[in-house]
Amino acid sequence: MKGVCWSSSPLLVLLPLLLCLVGSGTADKTDDFPALAEAYAPYLRFDSKEGQGDLCFPHDPQDFYATRQAGDWSRQCNHDYASVEGGKTPTYWHAMTCGYHLHIAYWNFYGYNADCDCCSGERDAWWEFVVVKIRDWKVKPHMHEVMFGQKQGWYTRIPGHYETFNQTHPVAYVGKSQHGTYHDDGGTGTCCYYEDFRNPGGADQHMVTWANLTELKQVDGEEWMSDSNTDWWHGLESPMFREDWDLCGLMGCTGASLQVCGTCGCHKSDIGDDPF
Ligand SMILES: *[C@@H]1O[C@H](CO)[C@@H](O)[C@H](O)[C@H]1NC(C)=O
Ligand SMILES: *[C@@H]1O[C@H](CO)[C@@H](O)[C@H](O)[C@H]1NC(C)=O
Repeated sequence: MKGVCWSSSPLLVLLPLLLCLVGSGTADKTDDFPALAEAYAPYLRFDSKEGQGDLCFPHDPQDFYATRQAGDWSRQCNHDYASVEGGKTPTYWHAMTCGYHLHIAYWNFYGYNADCDCCSGERDAWWEFVVVKIRDWKVKPHMHEVMFGQKQGWYTRIPGHYETFNQTHPVAYVGKSQHGTYHDDGGTGTCCYYEDFRNPGGADQHMVTWANLTELKQVDGEEWMSDSNTDWWHGLESPMFREDWDLCGLMGCTGASLQVCGTCGCHKSDIGDDPF
């Protein structure tokens, strides 16, 4: 019976204390991870043009994987907003306890990234992430830092410096060509780090990621999850095989602190490159 502290003998003062600590302490709440993942899952907002031409919505990676395995190497682009709005396209998550805090990473897959200017940047297969930090997750859980990933880099924002939807869901604006996630809308439509267009406008296309969440697992997950062959993803490592699978070792940002065209995630990071 966890949570009940009893003393069987006045001579054994320490033992009940230890039993008590073990009972109320460690991993007895792991079952709550899916519920927490649902509670803090991001609300994605897409550009008004997403879904048109070669601008793609999130894609089911298992479908993509099966298509490639069947020898079909054609471009895969999800144009179907109904599949996104209706919760039929999955978002993936995995969580790790880091000290008193819980880090939850959310991943979306895209079949194709279009050029970010007239003529460069396109590629097949792309993964993007958002990571949330739930402080004091056992005692008094509250979402604090949120990390936004984009263009092989990332940056971290603190509460008040990102938007939320229904209190607990961070809002991430998705770049229309390259699908990076940003805390704000805008962009000027170039390939520079913060410039991919993301203007939801009246179309207000969005994704309630918690409508379809699947846990990433290195074993016993969907077929693609345990396959380390990067060929299926056109040379990319899938989330399970990346260095940042260890969510406790994340740093707040990558790249320059000055806004340059190349990787400059630290320019918009509220915690610099301190540990996340
Ligand atoms: C979630 O996505 C999977 C994979 O595309 C799909 O099979 C499933 O039906 C979706 N779940 C819901 C609730 O729509
Ligand atoms: C947001 O909150 C409102 C009010 O509680 C609720 O009716 C609505 O279903 C929520 N939206 C989503 C997408 O969960």
